[in-house]
Amino acid sequence: MTEKVSRRIFLKVAGTSVAGVGAAVTPVGHAMAAGNDQAAIQAAAGMAVLPYPKTSVGKAKAMQTNTPVSFNYPDADSPCVAIKMGQRVAGGVGPDGDIVAYSNLCTHMGCPLMYDPKTRSFKCPCHYSMFDPEKSGQMICGQATEDLPQIQLSYDPASDTIHAVAVTGLIYGRQANVL
Ligand code: FES
Repeated sequence: MTEKVSRRIFLKVAGTSVAGVGAAVTPVGHAMAAGNDQAAIQAAAGMAVLPYPKTSVGKAKAMQTNTPVSFNYPDADSPCVAIKMGQRVAGGVGPDGDIVAYSNLCTHMGCPLMYDPKTRSFKCPCHYSMFDPEKSGQMICGQATEDLPQIQLSYDPASDTIHAVAVTGLIYGRQANVL
């Protein structure tokens, strides 16, 4: 008797639980669908990336080897530096494939970097991070954990003009490079 009651109670409880689960599944399913819809909306919003401007950096043949040229990209609040390395490098453009450009804001806490011609590297005066312009802005050492964002360049041989056309990596302090 005790066993039957227990079994009955068990089945009742189990049935309630199953019903409860069933009841719970439906809202969760709806919630998931709603969540998916929300994710789709967010993904769609994320895909609505603003286009990069095409900005003139200067004439390739006017650039001096190992001498930084300052410019702003993709807007006036984003200081960048272009350098003619004097030898072909990754992402390099121009007649010799040796001109590269980077954001000039340290990826650690945004301090303006200084280019050191002797070591051919960017150095941060705040906490001494160093970045290699010949290796796509790779961090050499220091407090930073991210490589330096590289400015994508194009070269028009007809006008000898270097243009900034995009950015690889996120510029310090931004949620999106193009605001
Ligand atoms: S801001 Fe450059 S290392 Fe800290």
